[in-house]
Amino acid sequence: MPITAEQILAGAPAIATPELVRWVTDVASLTQPDAVYWCDGSVAERDRLYDEMVASGTFTKLNPALRPNSYLARSLPSDVARVESRTFICSENEADAGPTNNWAAPAEMRKTLAKVFHGSMRGRTMYVIPFSMGPLGGPISKLGIEISDSPYVVVNMRIMTRMGAAALQGIADGQYWVPAVHSVGYPLVDADGNARPDVAWPCNDDKYITHFPETREIWSYGSGYGGNALLGKKCYALRIASVLARDEGWLAEHMLILKITGPDGRVYHLTAAFPSACGKTNLAMLRPTIPGWKVETIGDDIAWMRPGADGRLYAINPEAGFFGVAPYTSLKTNPTALEALDHDTIFTNVALTDDGDVWWEGMTEDVPAHLIDWQGNDWTPESTTPAAHPNSRFTVRADQASSISPEWESPQGVPIDVILFGGRRASNVPLISQAYNWSHGVFVGATVSSEQTAAAEGAVGDLRRDPFAMLPFCGYNMADYWGHWLELGQTLGDKAPHIFQVNWFRKGSDGKFLWPGFGENSRAIEWALRRVNGEVYGHDAISGRIPNEGELNVEGLDITSEQLNELFALDPAAWQHEADLTEEYFKKFGDKVPQELWHELTWLRNRTNGVY
Ligand code: OXD
Ligand code: MN
Repeated sequence: MPITAEQILAGAPAIATPELVRWVTDVASLTQPDAVYWCDGSVAERDRLYDEMVASGTFTKLNPALRPNSYLARSLPSDVARVESRTFICSENEADAGPTNNWAAPAEMRKTLAKVFHGSMRGRTMYVIPFSMGPLGGPISKLGIEISDSPYVVVNMRIMTRMGAAALQGIADGQYWVPAVHSVGYPLVDADGNARPDVAWPCNDDKYITHFPETREIWSYGSGYGGNALLGKKCYALRIASVLARDEGWLAEHMLILKITGPDGRVYHLTAAFPSACGKTNLAMLRPTIPGWKVETIGDDIAWMRPGADGRLYAINPEAGFFGVAPYTSLKTNPTALEALDHDTIFTNVALTDDGDVWWEGMTEDVPAHLIDWQGNDWTPESTTPAAHPNSRFTVRADQASSISPEWESPQGVPIDVILFGGRRASNVPLISQAYNWSHGVFVGATVSSEQTAAAEGAVGDLRRDPFAMLPFCGYNMADYWGHWLELGQTLGDKAPHIFQVNWFRKGSDGKFLWPGFGENSRAIEWALRRVNGEVYGHDAISGRIPNEGELNVEGLDITSEQLNELFALDPAAWQHEADLTEEYFKKFGDKVPQELWHELTWLRNRTNGVY
């Protein structure tokens, strides 16, 4: 029987505000759950949900001797990733969503949502999940409440955010919060009262991941997976927060955050934006190969940044955990991440070993002789399908990484010295170059792209644009967002971080990667930090300032001077072509593209003609 308004009121925590209880009651009267449960974030609550999910078949408990307190979930094959085609920005005006987002009229979408959410939680428990993005009570942090009918969401949100009673107290104290509603869309009782059994991974073929930027609301229907369902992450911390940031003068970015200490003890902080599948998690846990440098992790995916009282830009990681891609996480690519997953980890869609542990492609050189694959089937090395889904994930608390910085929970954040933008570019873009100034840096961010096809000499492969690595995550018009970055640069003035472009993926004429990547990326970062310090100068080049010969530390690296030249080669004709592609790209945004970016394009073209 659906719970009644009286029962909800009677069961609400004493500190829940009337406004909050009314919202919970409204959502319950629409979705008609049997019960409403207010999450407190305790270990006892988590353990109870783990046990319930093992009993229901959603979780497999891993062998506690090998992987203590860790679980494996398998999703349906139809629910394995974020669904960008079903992700909507429902702004009043279509132009405010811009050409890179799916737009839906808010009134229309509300009608659709009212239909699909109607009775969507019948026969289930509705969880009320209070959470803080960022350290509780911090000046950059913000609160939210996710309502969900998925216990998988509850236990993941407990790792990924500061979830529970303290966040609810913040709301009771009058702090701002964002409402977010999620349903897997698999009611256990139909409108006529007929019951059906639950399944291990409930979801719905119909999916809506919707955002209302004007009213700052999130409604997500039909998926139980990751970014579609853990609404604190992409939906709140990026799409809605980018809108809040625009209106309040700060930045919500798809960036990792690092603390770096040099051999002389000087401390720097760096943020970096990379499109998906560019090794962002590996960089977030970088083990530098150059002596004397120490790198610590503050965040692996998202940065919220605000100008501080001293005029510098301060960043926090709004998340509390990592929701990382498992395949190819190994002792070679990311030993820190692999070690962090030793215990207390939720795995989704990886393979199960015969002794009750996990495995994925690239984890070890030796491939186990037998596994249960991510769909629950027998798997052997002869199988033609992967054992772990390519987008299989781990959910783990950030402080399980040995690289975590003591400042990772600093409420006021860390002052940012350097911002990196990177893409996966086979051609053209050098290992590292420094933007000439803030507006050039914004141009570099706006034109981030990855190349699908290896380029022939002098040509550029197909470019997939991912401005600021925010393509699927910006909650408003991308060109207005560039304008916001330019405005913030005015506010920061000479206190603004220095912006660099990096590319770990350049290929030589033989089609092979020119740069070894991973820990060796510390060498490019060292050059950037020494540049900030005025210890190296570089010289002006088409893409920006690039290292002078001898400035990049390549000691001990197996790289020839020809390869180094190729890594930094800048072909004017190829860059002219690239400029033409950028012009075409900007035209998609009509007259919204800020004038400064058109000027940057002109200056880029001038540089290809030798004019500086
Ligand atoms: C992510 C992504 O899952 O960027 O973090 O796709
Ligand atoms: Mn991401």
